[in-house]
Amino acid sequence: MNNFVAPSLLAADKTKLLDEIKLVENEGCEYLHWDVMDGVFVPNTSYTVEDVSSFAKKHKMINDVHIMVANPKEEAIKFAKAGADIVTFHIEAVNCPVCAGKIINSLHALNCKAGISIKPGTKVKAIEPLLDKVDLVLVMSVEPGKGGQKFMPVALRKIKKLRRLIDKNNYNCLIEVDGGINNETAKKCRKCGADILVAGSYLFGHEDIKERIQTLR
Ligand code: DX5
Ligand code: ZN
Repeated sequence: MNNFVAPSLLAADKTKLLDEIKLVENEGCEYLHWDVMDGVFVPNTSYTVEDVSSFAKKHKMINDVHIMVANPKEEAIKFAKAGADIVTFHIEAVNCPVCAGKIINSLHALNCKAGISIKPGTKVKAIEPLLDKVDLVLVMSVEPGKGGQKFMPVALRKIKKLRRLIDKNNYNCLIEVDGGINNETAKKCRKCGADILVAGSYLFGHEDIKERIQTLR
């Protein structure tokens, strides 16, 4: 188990994105979380391939790209080529585990890690056949689409279940949690076995961001 932190740029000040990136890099964050939305899989839009390619090489953190898009097959590859170190797509956006497996293979062929995400209403069972193939599982603790929502405790049971499955079978797969993470929900997620915590509105725009990052570890 790890205690990595992944600041979500969704809550960052886009008019000074490089400063925001440098700020969290200097505080020792291991991952940089990019939220990609296509206006179809979720109603909003956010970061694009161009954004990732402009900033991916300007810092040393792992570019952790979460694609909330309806056609991950095409999009995943574009982000891998744009400098993503890991691309995480949603199981709800693909028809079957076999199709998901093909996307995972195509990411790996480009030397990019692959993650699979489940929304609050999706069971761990839906991605169980992929656990030996993916590098990461992203458990959504809010409905994907926007920041600043309240943490849904249903995520905790799923983290625990994933932790058990991963440890029992020795899978090389990290557990990441995204949505409504703050000092209190972080503690609960760590206790259940989360490796990476994504946080947007809890971190960006606060004077004490340094201390806040520490509370997530
Ligand atoms: C939601 C995004 C999250 C979001 C988290 O769809 O995937 O990464 O930025 O925001 P907070 O931390 O504010 O809940
Ligand atoms: Zn996200």
